[in-house]
Amino acid sequence: MLSHRSFYGALILGSFLCLLQDSMAEVGKLVCFYEAASFVREGELGLLIFACQTDQRLSVSLSGPAQLSLVELEPALSFCNFLVYGYAGIDAESHKIKSLDPELSYNRQHYRKITALRQKFPHVRFLLSVGGNRDLSAEGLVDNVKYLNVLEQPEHRSSFRASVVAELSNYGFDGLDLAWQFPMNRPKLQQGVLKRAWSAVRGWFSVASVDSKAPEHREQFATLVRELRMDLQRSGKLLSLSMLPHVDAELFIDVPSVLEHVDFVNLGTYDFHTPERDPKVGDLPAPLYAMYDRDPTHSVQHQVQYWLNQTSGSNAGQLHISIASYGRSWNMTRNSGITGYPPIPAADGAAPAGKQTGIPGLLSWPEICELLQQQPLDKEAPHLRKVGDPTKRFGIYAYRSADENGQNGLWVGYEDPTTAAIKAGFSQAQGLGGVAFHDVSLDDFRGQCAGEKYPILRSIKYRL
Ligand SMILES: *[C@@H]1O[C@H](CO)[C@@H](O)[C@H](O)[C@H]1NC(C)=O
Ligand SMILES: *[C@@H]1O[C@H](CO)[C@@H](O)[C@H](O)[C@H]1NC(C)=O
Repeated sequence: MLSHRSFYGALILGSFLCLLQDSMAEVGKLVCFYEAASFVREGELGLLIFACQTDQRLSVSLSGPAQLSLVELEPALSFCNFLVYGYAGIDAESHKIKSLDPELSYNRQHYRKITALRQKFPHVRFLLSVGGNRDLSAEGLVDNVKYLNVLEQPEHRSSFRASVVAELSNYGFDGLDLAWQFPMNRPKLQQGVLKRAWSAVRGWFSVASVDSKAPEHREQFATLVRELRMDLQRSGKLLSLSMLPHVDAELFIDVPSVLEHVDFVNLGTYDFHTPERDPKVGDLPAPLYAMYDRDPTHSVQHQVQYWLNQTSGSNAGQLHISIASYGRSWNMTRNSGITGYPPIPAADGAAPAGKQTGIPGLLSWPEICELLQQQPLDKEAPHLRKVGDPTKRFGIYAYRSADENGQNGLWVGYEDPTTAAIKAGFSQAQGLGGVAFHDVSLDDFRGQCAGEKYPILRSIKYRL
């Protein structure tokens, strides 16, 4: 629980940042994604032994270890200019925006609780995001068909638009974020990790195999954005676009037209490489610059350059790079070698879930931090070793080679407060609008790691 002192501290800091924000209207924005599922997330209680301050232990006993309560969310809001509530979905029959929580009434109450935080944090704008990877079909797959259906017919679009306008005003949101689902690029075929010529690899899949109607969908999406802009402007609401990683902007986004009608775009500069899509090869999830022998589009720099190119750089202030607060983790096998140097061959899929977050192949920053701090007394005993990046160009990782039985191998590519600050610095140097942070619930919101709450978020804010 927050003490009175830190509560007023947060308020004062909040108003200070508010002043700061006014003086730099265009740059240095921090867009915080908030995964609403974290509000009900449960993990194992056992892990929290290392939370050493009494007030932390208290909050731990009040809520589950990975569960982010509203009180715990508040300190983050001192740093954020926008809080993006993730995620709402789309109803396949009516084409209306819908709540994704099974307990519908409960979730809508949650909408209200979140937007009511405006009273304490008047500088924060609250957006509702539709899409992301949580709007699944009955088979549990990401369902982009409904999203394309909305685009394809003017009546479907108007039904969607009307529902959005109503939803935003009913629940007090300041705007809509489109984390729109388009067909994803196919994962790269893996034929030996160190395949030399990427150009040869590129020919293995064609644009047609992703979506044969991509040109129509691109135009229809631009139309939807333009229409939504008109609807939302009338009620003074904002509109933003969040690109999902693996959605090819070249195929689906008419960049000049979309930029004309949105307030900002969060580029999908994270999760280029994930255990879900690339189970056999472990690699850095989001290098800042293109890496040797990899898909050259898989870098923050390339994505930024692509968007800048489309408008001759004139819209830099509308672009935000995305930075993750989590790592992507793979099982290392005996054939993955012992150096940990990526790419990691012969990986065996997603590593086991972290004890707090419970998602295979994903470790939150506090989970990674704890693993790194667990140093065995016997130096030879297997433990996770961190490998830094003195070039500051690619990113960091940590690994533990598999033992003689092929067990316990782990490789994780991640961000920490330092690498996140490097990326924020890149955003500044490029004259971009700011940074989108994915996600507050996976940062160290209790300060378990080094005592300071939201260390990655903080580090980004100070660098912007
Ligand atoms: C951006 O434009 C430059 C100059 O035309 C070109 O060399 C570069 O490849 C382009 N980059 C991207 C990512 O589109
Ligand atoms: C990863 O390794 C763990 C144990 O080391 C094992 O339980 C899990 O099944 C492995 N995952 C895959 C996808 O093989």
